[in-house]
Amino acid sequence: MEHFMHFRVLLLLLSFGSILWLEGEASEHHDKPNFLLIMADDLGIGDVGCFGNTTIRTPHIDQLAKDGVKLTHHISAAPLCSPSRTAFMTGRYPIRSGMATIGRAPVLLWTAGSGGLPPNEITFAKVLQEEGYSTGIVGKWHLGVNCRSRDDLCHHPNNHGFDYFYGMPFTLFSECKEGHGRMIIPDVRIFIWRISEIIGLAILTVVSLRLLGLFVLSWKFILLLVLLYILCISAWYFPFQFINIWNCIIMRNGEVVEQPMALETLPRRLLNEAEGFLQRNKDNPFLLFVSFPHVHSPLFESEGFKGKSKHGLYGDNIEEMDWMTGRIVKMVEDLGLSKKTFVYFTSDHGGHVEHADSSGQIGGWNGIYKGGKAMAGWDGGIRVPGIIRWPGKLPAGKVIDKPTSLMDIFPTVVNIANGQLPTDRIIDGHDLLPLIQGEVPHSRHEFMFHYCGVDIHAVRWHPRNSDSVYKVHFFTPNFSPPGAIGCYDLLICRCYGEFVSRHDPPLVFDISRDPSESLPLSPEVEPRYSEILQRVQEVTEEHQKAVKPVPSQFTVSEIMWKPWLQPCCGTFPFCSCKESNGS
Ligand SMILES: *[C@@H]1O[C@H](CO)[C@@H](O)[C@H](O)[C@H]1NC(C)=O
Repeated sequence: MEHFMHFRVLLLLLSFGSILWLEGEASEHHDKPNFLLIMADDLGIGDVGCFGNTTIRTPHIDQLAKDGVKLTHHISAAPLCSPSRTAFMTGRYPIRSGMATIGRAPVLLWTAGSGGLPPNEITFAKVLQEEGYSTGIVGKWHLGVNCRSRDDLCHHPNNHGFDYFYGMPFTLFSECKEGHGRMIIPDVRIFIWRISEIIGLAILTVVSLRLLGLFVLSWKFILLLVLLYILCISAWYFPFQFINIWNCIIMRNGEVVEQPMALETLPRRLLNEAEGFLQRNKDNPFLLFVSFPHVHSPLFESEGFKGKSKHGLYGDNIEEMDWMTGRIVKMVEDLGLSKKTFVYFTSDHGGHVEHADSSGQIGGWNGIYKGGKAMAGWDGGIRVPGIIRWPGKLPAGKVIDKPTSLMDIFPTVVNIANGQLPTDRIIDGHDLLPLIQGEVPHSRHEFMFHYCGVDIHAVRWHPRNSDSVYKVHFFTPNFSPPGAIGCYDLLICRCYGEFVSRHDPPLVFDISRDPSESLPLSPEVEPRYSEILQRVQEVTEEHQKAVKPVPSQFTVSEIMWKPWLQPCCGTFPFCSCKESNGS
């Protein structure tokens, strides 16, 4: 009996202790800061009020900058979506994970391609998930979905550290809006069509000659040609005729919930999802990545915004994106989480300067910076708005003009969350806090490599002993028509071959004095000229030697449309569904 009593007391003490322990654990969790990371798509640095635009209204983004830190020299690791987002998610140059284009395809082109962010890469979400965070992404992914089967989800956000995903596994695409024309794929489409034409003609000729008795060829060979013809026609017809069904998709976690997606209701739904995630997770540490489909084309025509800005539909989309940013940040405030939440705002790369239609400009504006999207070396392609707000922890209204990178978010977030940085791989980003808090005078980015696909087009050097920032261009895109600043004839610049010029000696600019890169330096005006060339040359070679070769995710076979990988609701190929509460 006595033993029994003791046992009961012991049990009581134990359970009491475990309650205390659990509570301790919970309040410890409570001290962990939250993260709200916001990324716009194709937004130019010149499109934002607090970065110098006087006619576009972005009051909510401007307020973030007023209450926080503005990064005016914030650089993306690539001038296009898939590679830039890879670098952002992993803190590494995209070439390290094979997410750098090697040829014609500049980004992932199909939801049903097999290329994507390799499963062995570590995203900041994966590290935070291990630290007990709830991790969510709302919006655009564009880093692949499947590897071998329709539902292996090897590249999907759920397999890259995000507990929750709602949004587009792919991206906005011209074909997502009816009658909106075609953007990147026409190349491939026309190429396959040409081949089918040639085979078709060959069949006709061979059959006629054979019928006339002028040519003896086995019917087997002719049959083979016919089969080839049918194959080519289907490769042309099936993927390209239904692009909106294959690529314009909404998923909730691994499930397709809308196919093709309805653009009219998408902004509202994304906002609801972001707000819902914050509400659900208000009592535990969270990381939410809001990855806007704005302001990529095709543009939204949302009620309340259409026709309201001074810059056409493009401006309307910026103002809608700003409004959504404001609503999401307000939700953080309403939940009483402002002081506990690190908020970051950026764009994945520069605005698409060549993009215009009959209504006028529908791509972004990069302010005083030369060039834009798809131009890896010119600052217009890679210098993006950067804002960090963390009231009480980081100064308000501070401006940092030292070079920083989107890749810095990875180590910054991981360090703040007390997570472990991977030690088995190179991380190219650096923790931003020492620079922001003034503990160090210099950016740790003494050098930055500006990749176009797998090639380095330019290198930025910020010598430790000087305020200058030099940029050395080895390659620049060939602008067309001549005299233009941009590749207007092609709609978008390319990285390779006859589309670029090699510079020997390289072009050198001091962008601290000449941010528009208009006056190349010469040995006569720049005493350090030959030192700059030599140092950059050496460091570039060193860097390139240290990049380990990995399988490319952009080979033709990885990129092409594979019906068996197609995310689909319903029975393939009749994929079709509409989200029930899609309003
Ligand atoms: C503001 O942004 C719009 C839209 O991109 C652009 O047309 C305009 O030139 C910008 N204005 C300034 C002063 O940068």
